Amino acid sequence: MPTRAWFPTFIYDAPLTKRGAAALNKQLLSECMTIREIDDEGRRWSETNYPGGFTSYNSMNQLHRTSSTFGELEKHLTRHVRSFAKSLDFELGSRKLTMTDCWTNVMPRHAAHPLHIHPIATISGTYYVRTPRGCAKLKFEDPRLPSFMAAPPRKADCRDENRTFIHYPAEAGRVILFESWLRHEVSANQTADERVSISFNWNWF
Ligand code: NI
Repeated sequence: MPTRAWFPTFIYDAPLTKRGAAALNKQLLSECMTIREIDDEGRRWSETNYPGGFTSYNSMNQLHRTSSTFGELEKHLTRHVRSFAKSLDFELGSRKLTMTDCWTNVMPRHAAHPLHIHPIATISGTYYVRTPRGCAKLKFEDPRLPSFMAAPPRKADCRDENRTFIHYPAEAGRVILFESWLRHEVSANQTADERVSISFNWNWF
């Protein structure tokens, strides 16, 4: 083939455990609800920065250090992050990838999370705790988009690897990982029920 693909963008998507994570999810959900109740600073911050929803991103953002349930989640995630780092061919040397931040996001009906990256992190991702049927997906943007200039738009039925945006369904019990510079967003939750997720950053120390 004269044409080959180079410079791919990798996104990882897998179930947290092979046997399912129903029991862990139940406990995580309960703790996420408690966090929203007790995190006054987070609720205030969310009013301005996460309209209609709640995130502990700027307040209770080390949940893996303060809760054994989140600690268990971290243990499971470690395996996935290692596997993802391997597929990225990272040369980590003597430094290790470590979870630095872990927070919860609760999105009631109409809550949205506009395009953003996760600064000062290496690998980021989300674990889904509660995902009402038909709730918003995780949308990723082609990182080369600002360089496209006079590039024509892609055909509506183009190959997946040529898409400008890609959507990953949010499904309880699954984990999605990506490099932290990759822009992503969650459009408004159109379902009546709350969409609950846990997001996290891993850094290279
Ligand atoms: Ni994010």
